[in-house]
Amino acid sequence: MTPVKPGRIAILGGSGRTGRKIARCVLRHTSCNVTLCGRRGSLLEDVAGRLVEESGRDRLDAVTCDARDPESVRSGLQGVDVAIVAMPTRGLEQMLPAALIGSGVDVIDISLWPATAEAYHNLDHAARSAGRRILYQAGLIPGTPALLVSRAMVRRPDLTRIRLAEAMNLPPLTPGASASELIASVVGRPHVFRNGTWHRARSTETVRIDLGVPYGVRVCYPFDLAELRSLPNRHGLEELACYSSGFGGSADRWFLLALLPGATRTERILNWISRRVVGAINRTAQPPFGICLKLDGWAEETGLAPAYTLCIRSDDPYLATGAAVVAALRQLAAGHLPGPGSFLMGEALDAEEALADLERMDVEVIESGAA
Ligand SMILES: NC(=O)c1ccc[n+]([C@@H]2O[C@H](COP(=O)([O-])OP(=O)(O)OC[C@H]3O[C@@H](n4cnc5c(N)ncnc54)[C@H](OP(=O)(O)O)[C@@H]3O)[C@@H](O)[C@H]2O)c1
Repeated sequence: MTPVKPGRIAILGGSGRTGRKIARCVLRHTSCNVTLCGRRGSLLEDVAGRLVEESGRDRLDAVTCDARDPESVRSGLQGVDVAIVAMPTRGLEQMLPAALIGSGVDVIDISLWPATAEAYHNLDHAARSAGRRILYQAGLIPGTPALLVSRAMVRRPDLTRIRLAEAMNLPPLTPGASASELIASVVGRPHVFRNGTWHRARSTETVRIDLGVPYGVRVCYPFDLAELRSLPNRHGLEELACYSSGFGGSADRWFLLALLPGATRTERILNWISRRVVGAINRTAQPPFGICLKLDGWAEETGLAPAYTLCIRSDDPYLATGAAVVAALRQLAAGHLPGPGSFLMGEALDAEEALADLERMDVEVIESGAA
């Protein structure tokens, strides 16, 4: 890969499961300097030490910073070009995005939290005035599903129906803000596109989807991805929807509680459910771990079997997220993105370039049925 020009990247949440893998990918695949940010200094030092040892690169330091405090954010981001947000943002949506733009940095935020996405959307004007680019709902999921659709429509412009589905087998998790934000985000307000418009779907409108080895055929629930909303009109699609296969095994019994129509989803209840989901994942978690995002597409004349499939897979969900962030960082640094302004990652990136980068960073990209 051509190198990204040197600059300083700060990772808010750099000591977390995803943040440390993003740091590893940035060190391995770019020449940028990296600052890990988080509240616990000793954990940051420990993670930084291990990353330097493992990568053999000393372009890394650590700074304690509390994202709940705008002053702490500003001082932590001094001298930084791009801030990568890899921490839960629920409850910080009013403050953190504004503090980041006020700090004069470009932003790549992988949070799934819808209110944070809305805050970034509303900061478009401020980002343009500041000459900065914000990529939100970045990462693997969200982040890449819209890229798969764009690639599919280049390879098979005759497709009229597209269905995306994700499956993951996660290693043990720690209960806490990130896990509960993940669950609260997935149980949001699913929509599917059919008959020319987006419809609110019931979470119980499940579909059985074959996600390939080792996931097999899974019952999948519709979920919402803002990055897909503009695609039916752009590509003339008749149907588009995205599904999640949940967390597998007994974790899904708890997860389904939050999905039931009419279920009360207060923060307290979602936190309680997320502790149960995490407990169940941790009791049954066993390799092979991994993640897969699969697109099936049908053309007007095709039968039951999809005419085209495109799948991205990795045996390390967190490293694959790091690779997706680096793909975004590379297009940002190369000046290939629109803007300045605020953009959903899946809408802003060049799909061919991003998927080629993912492959170079060891994420499998498997395609069949291309014209
Ligand atoms: N789009 C995608 O593909 C994708 C994929 C994976 C994860 N995610 C998202 O990424 C986020 C992180 O997930 P994770 O599983 O990596 O979480 P995690 O392991 O719990 O790590 C969270 C990190 O955030 C830091 N943090 C928490 N609150 C903070 C604050 N107020 N100020 C500064 N740092 C703070 C934590 O360190 P301290 O506690 O020491 O501060 C820790 O380093 C979640 O929002 C998740 O939904 C997105």
